[in-house]
Amino acid sequence: MSLTQAPSPVRPKVLVARRIFPEGLARLEEHCEIDYNDQIHPLSNAELANRLADKQGALVTGSEQVGTQALSQASQLQIISNIAVGFNNFDVAALNAKHVFGTNTPDVLTDTTADMAFALLMATARRVCETEHWLRAGHWQNWELGGMLGVDVHHSTMGIIGMGRIGQAIAKRGLGFGMNILYHNRTQLDAATEQACQAQYVALETLLRQADHVVLVMPYSAASHHLIGREQLALMRPTATLINIARGGIVDDAALIEALQKKVIFAAGLDVYEGEPKLNPGFLTVPNVVLTPHIGSATAKTRHGMMNLAIDNLLAGLAGKRPPNLINPEIWKA
Ligand code: DGY
Repeated sequence: MSLTQAPSPVRPKVLVARRIFPEGLARLEEHCEIDYNDQIHPLSNAELANRLADKQGALVTGSEQVGTQALSQASQLQIISNIAVGFNNFDVAALNAKHVFGTNTPDVLTDTTADMAFALLMATARRVCETEHWLRAGHWQNWELGGMLGVDVHHSTMGIIGMGRIGQAIAKRGLGFGMNILYHNRTQLDAATEQACQAQYVALETLLRQADHVVLVMPYSAASHHLIGREQLALMRPTATLINIARGGIVDDAALIEALQKKVIFAAGLDVYEGEPKLNPGFLTVPNVVLTPHIGSATAKTRHGMMNLAIDNLLAGLAGKRPPNLINPEIWKA
């Protein structure tokens, strides 16, 4: 370097904890020095801690657990960006203690995830997967008047638990099906939003008793752990369905399997599970459940949108700007 040349700026070190789309990596490489875990399985807490030790930033997914252990050696870390709207994998108190910003990816996945709730709802109510397996197994001999009867979605009552952006988008889809919409939420929505969704706020117990289809969309937390267990399932109608696109752990999976076996409810459609990607093997023994592998946001457009938003958040934070989707604003400029 000649004496007149300016020193090249120091590029922040960033951990990319999971495989991402190549254009995302290229975007990051323009600005940062990357430590890339080009794998589809998550790093263990110990590995995460090791690799965060010398980093200023990190891009993670909902499967990496960002808590005290992962942050234990992270003395230079400024920001961790989650490629997910849910951030129950972040221990916000641990982030705050280290003054590390956390971010998530809201909005870009709202409609795609609401579509998935409807896909599961339709498939579950009309036994789409069960009957397809039956057909493929060569059982179809005759059209039967009383064969493979499902339950109606149109003009039924949908009960949405968790009425944030995605819950509201599901409600609006329900209106197109002539559904009556009940909801339960931590706080009641303002009158204008209720009116836009034509949704009525009710107590949890009322919703469980009255809904033909119960859809779970709320965040996972200690308060929502096993919100739906044996007792709540018993309140539901024997003709009702339960759809979970929120998080594993909100439903007590063992209690649900028992309820499906005993026909306490008609059927369930699940995209998320306790301890996923492991699955309670009981689910594989009951026909009246539709099972998908946490694909709520999985369209090419939306997953690219999530990645790019997560990168926007990360680069903003590394540049000292307030990230657009900061989950712990309490430490901003604190
Ligand atoms: C989300 O964005 O929270 C999805 O569930 C993916 O983790």
